[in-house]
Amino acid sequence: MCGIVGYVGNGSASEILLNGLKRLEYRGYDSSGLAVLADGKLELRRSVGKISNLSLNIKNRPLNGHIGVGHTRWATHGIPSEENAHPHTDCSKRIVVVHNGIIENYSSLKAVLIKKAHQFVSQTDTEIIAHLIEESWELKQKNSNGKKSEEDFLHAVRHALLQCDGAYALGILCMDFPELLVAARKDCPLVLGLGKKENFIASDIPALLGLSKKVIFLDQEEIAVIKKNSIDCFNLQGKKVEKKSVKVKLDPVQAEKANFKHFMLKEIMEQPRTIQDTLRGRVFPEKNRLQLELNLSAAFIKGLKRITLVACGTSYHAALVGRFWLESLAKVPCQVEIASEYRYRDHFFSSQELVIFISQSGETADTLAALRLTHRFPVKTLAICNVLGSSLTQEADTTFYTRCGPEIGVASTKAFTGQLIALLLLAIHLGIIKKHLNLKTIHQILADLLNLPHWVREALTLSNEIEKISKRFLSKNHFLFLGRHTNYPIALEGALKLKEISYIHAEGYPAGEMKHGPIALIDKEMPLVALVTDSLVYEKICSNIEEAKARGGTVIAIASKGNKTIQEKADEVLYVEKVPEIFSSIVNVIPLQLFAYHMADLKGCDVDQPRNLAKSVTVE
Ligand code: M6R
Repeated sequence: MCGIVGYVGNGSASEILLNGLKRLEYRGYDSSGLAVLADGKLELRRSVGKISNLSLNIKNRPLNGHIGVGHTRWATHGIPSEENAHPHTDCSKRIVVVHNGIIENYSSLKAVLIKKAHQFVSQTDTEIIAHLIEESWELKQKNSNGKKSEEDFLHAVRHALLQCDGAYALGILCMDFPELLVAARKDCPLVLGLGKKENFIASDIPALLGLSKKVIFLDQEEIAVIKKNSIDCFNLQGKKVEKKSVKVKLDPVQAEKANFKHFMLKEIMEQPRTIQDTLRGRVFPEKNRLQLELNLSAAFIKGLKRITLVACGTSYHAALVGRFWLESLAKVPCQVEIASEYRYRDHFFSSQELVIFISQSGETADTLAALRLTHRFPVKTLAICNVLGSSLTQEADTTFYTRCGPEIGVASTKAFTGQLIALLLLAIHLGIIKKHLNLKTIHQILADLLNLPHWVREALTLSNEIEKISKRFLSKNHFLFLGRHTNYPIALEGALKLKEISYIHAEGYPAGEMKHGPIALIDKEMPLVALVTDSLVYEKICSNIEEAKARGGTVIAIASKGNKTIQEKADEVLYVEKVPEIFSSIVNVIPLQLFAYHMADLKGCDVDQPRNLAKSVTVE
């Protein structure tokens, strides 16, 4: 989720890298840094906050040189600070690394390196890469009597990377090779930009705009050896691979959106990857185990008597889904509260309770105020948050990060699915510790969890079909979204998405409540969107659809693949994968996000910045 730029050529590295980083800044990074190699020395500058802080830092202490790497950080391990900002170095300060991604096994690698007397100065996972390379590089030199060959250095890099589990896009420099820039990738994008007597690397094409018109996309587990006049690529076994360059034709704004029309669409489409990132390094089906970085002792979890979930907007909907999981998997009584209401109520807590605050931004005023009022009580607090170092994470006792990367569109999409995954992981974790889940169930749920990115990817293929359906319903001014059980909150979320970006009136309802009032609204001008995937309440919601049809209602159904009978009841059917019921909310929200998106886009609305709304609601 970070941004990487690298340069080798005859120009001013610091100037070129700074400009590249500025082009990535729209994502709202929290710190940045550069390393430039000149006169046999590596020099670093790092700053917290905006790139302008780094520019000022470099203006005060200029960096001269023609080869360097730069990075904008969106923190995942360690708060935004100068020590945690990239580039990171080894003990001898001869090697620098910039990194995008997460090294899952960093704590075990770090423990081994510390035993070998390596000194660490940051809390990041990235720093271990510099030390791993150092370790292998020193060994290589020892074995070749101090001879420094480029081949041996590349071997050391490969050896280091083969020890890393997880995802990476990397830019690496070593003082021993003043004309060599090394890049590598696995599960994170990295492009190589081609120039005249100069070459570049970047995590994202926008960083290269105006610098390079031809790029090479580095593939999985490939390493590139970049000099000003050449680029050579290898696989992790050291075998040379031939690469083709492609022309890039993008205007800057378009490039930032990775060719999607809007950030919201980009973020919807990113979900298979962001879900994978939320799960990364946390789920081990083969060991029937989860590894969550939570500061909640087993004794506390075993004695837990009640959980309260507090949030606003979309995060509140995630909390409503989370309640089902916490009650059914962990058997803990739960209550869900809207922060702006909760903060003005009377509270009664015991030390055997947990209050969970859910917020994408971690800066929502009402959620923060609700957290602050708990400080007067002996109660444990947990933040589920996407932004590392945000106020909520600083003030809660412990935090679980959703790791979805910056969300630019005001309408929350990928952060919502990240929150759902976080809550599900938490519920399983509590269920395991409280011994409410048997080994077979744990194994099955954990194995299924790893299928989620695939199921979500399949749901995303509905986009064109949803666009067609949206055209048919474009003239409607009111929609009713119906769901039951874990899909009731998804109905609320579908309605919220539609109203906030398309300005169409929409209500989310628990389908069983229809006959208690809303059914009076049904006519041919009030279409229904019904979540009727296979579940415990499938028959019940089918009856609710029949009731609506009998009153002239038009129905768009979200159903499980293979269900033919639903076609007789609904006017339009969108089929998603048939998934175990506990995962259905995560899959079913995807067509609703796409429906809201296409309706808003077809209406010509400002999808990414809807009227009257702000991304972080920092006022009451
Ligand atoms: O940053 P938070 O998750 O605390 O934000 C809460 C709401 O403001 C937010 O979810 C809002 O409802 C979104 N615009 C929904 O798309």
